[in-house]
Amino acid sequence: MNLLVLGRGKTGSLVAEIAAERRHHAHSVGAKDNVDGSALTAAKLSDVAAVIDFTAPHCILANIEACVKAGKNMVVGTTGWYEDIDHVRSLVERHKTGFVYAPNFSIGVHLFFDVVRAAATALRHEYSGQIFERHHVSKKDAPSGTAIALQRLMREASPRHEEVEITSFREGEVVGLHEIVLESAADRIYLCHDAKSRRGFAEGAVRAAEWLAVKKGFYEFKDVWREL
Ligand SMILES: NC(=O)c1ccc[n+]([C@@H]2O[C@H](COP(=O)([O-])OP(=O)(O)OC[C@H]3O[C@@H](n4cnc5c(N)ncnc54)[C@H](OP(=O)(O)O)[C@@H]3O)[C@@H](O)[C@H]2O)c1
Repeated sequence: MNLLVLGRGKTGSLVAEIAAERRHHAHSVGAKDNVDGSALTAAKLSDVAAVIDFTAPHCILANIEACVKAGKNMVVGTTGWYEDIDHVRSLVERHKTGFVYAPNFSIGVHLFFDVVRAAATALRHEYSGQIFERHHVSKKDAPSGTAIALQRLMREASPRHEEVEITSFREGEVVGLHEIVLESAADRIYLCHDAKSRRGFAEGAVRAAEWLAVKKGFYEFKDVWREL
């Protein structure tokens, strides 16, 4: 596939690398080459099968609008635009394109969610729960979106239990570590997902673009990753 990767930062550069490993033709565009969406005209996108975006909240909506209006499928890893989700969904439906987004494109994290969902039934059996998350010092948000998703799915597994508390640590170069501890008077259960690199996110995004090649519609990765 001819893929356009928007963003040459920590994740976008890895997306381009993995796309090439998977025998796609990947072209990367950074901020300087895309001032006011100049890289996203219909003419410039004419040969592109899908656009993968790992940029920043300030430009993501303009990127989405330009690509969707040009009729291009999109995979969006950039976060910070979800208050506009209804607008984006209707844009995608109107232009009959394909669109996959996720706050987390790691298949390993989605497998971990399944494990935690099953284990969280312990909260119905006199266990208490805790969530710990560790990330690098330059991560701006806390708690992480993944920790919030873990908290939500534990709530759904055991709605009558009090909210499981999240503790956040920001240290060194940690890519992303999430731990769950379930504790009773008799024992402790420890579950942990430790991202070794950003590779999981990048690989999930490229695979989502492959999956999208024969599809139209608006999808969240959590609902489709099992089909990859
Ligand atoms: N969904 C997931 O699985 C997942 C995983 C990791 C990260 N993320 C999200 O992905 C986004 C990027 O993360 P990151 O860690 O890769 O950030 P990063 O290292 O700061 O990279 C962002 C890149 O976007 C570029 N950029 C900014 N405006 C642009 C524009 N208008 N057109 C093209 N490129 C533009 C920047 O270029 P310059 O360097 O030239 O300014 C920079 O290289 C964030 O929103 C982050 O939360 C999501």
